[in-house]
Amino acid sequence: MTSSIAFIGAGRVASTLGRAFVRSGIPVAAIASRNPESARRLSALVEGSRAAPLQEAARAALVFITVPDDDITTTCRQLQWRRGQQVVHCSGATEVSALEHAAEAGALIGGFHPLQTFSNPDRAIDLLAGAAVAIEGPPPLDAALREIALRLQMRPLTLPPGARAAYHGSASFAGSFVVSMLEEAVAMWKSFGVNESDALAALLPLARGNLESIATKGIAGAISGPISRGDVGVITRHIAAFDGQGESHGRLYREFARRQLRLAVIDGRLNAEQSRLVAEAIEAASPTA
Ligand SMILES: NC(=O)c1ccc[n+]([C@@H]2O[C@H](COP(=O)([O-])OP(=O)(O)OC[C@H]3O[C@@H](n4cnc5c(N)ncnc54)[C@H](OP(=O)(O)O)[C@@H]3O)[C@@H](O)[C@H]2O)c1
Repeated sequence: MTSSIAFIGAGRVASTLGRAFVRSGIPVAAIASRNPESARRLSALVEGSRAAPLQEAARAALVFITVPDDDITTTCRQLQWRRGQQVVHCSGATEVSALEHAAEAGALIGGFHPLQTFSNPDRAIDLLAGAAVAIEGPPPLDAALREIALRLQMRPLTLPPGARAAYHGSASFAGSFVVSMLEEAVAMWKSFGVNESDALAALLPLARGNLESIATKGIAGAISGPISRGDVGVITRHIAAFDGQGESHGRLYREFARRQLRLAVIDGRLNAEQSRLVAEAIEAASPTA
């Protein structure tokens, strides 16, 4: 295990990882931040660490730069690095080359992106175990980051250079876009008088059940509902209800319906004739529109 670890940027990710590291027996030596008070506050929570000026923290053997993505390059540029040091950022979307300034000084640069949400650091600590972490870096940095991931009981995932935008953007479909899907459902429920909290109480068990199904049966095996059954009458009524709430609602329903149809065909649920009828129902203008 690397002898000294520091965090630069005392925000949500540093707060979660810093405390999780110490809990898992990985010492954190120093924490620095733009605002020294933030570093002091966090170091009081990360046992054994001290708040330090930026350049002092940047002398650690392994430095995690945990500032917002847009500040990674400038933060890295304003510090002096040395040969053999290891410098890592925690972004999913920013390429590791944002740390090029450290590489020019001979440091090994890499990425350690936990695929989890950190909006509430106190809760996020308990969500790390079992979560994936995308690791990028040359040897021996990759092995050091892998060891840290395993100590945190996370699942290391190797990312090739250049893949981060696709990796991170598509993860939104399992993360923040789930919020948008439920927002659409809740908006529709409001149209018949059910408020958000009652709607979520009814819809979240359904969402959880689906996630369980995907985990056991895979994507195509988990689809259910009228499209997978070829139930054209129900699909037509759904589309009329969505079109009735406005064009964007109907458009969204149709796009997901097309994707579901494709899966139903892949999974062998519908024959060619059923698939044709469902496709027609999806593309038909609704009588109320
Ligand atoms: N939040 C998530 O769910 C999540 C998940 C995975 C990965 N990440 C990645 O983790 C990184 C950090 O995200 P975060 O959510 O922890 O951000 P954050 O909560 O906004 O914290 C970043 C901290 O960095 C400090 N900072 C800002 N500019 C700085 C600078 N130029 N020099 C030094 N410190 C500076 C700020 O602290 P002071 O101004 O108080 O000093 C701020 O609190 C990002 O790359 C992000 O993409 C985030």
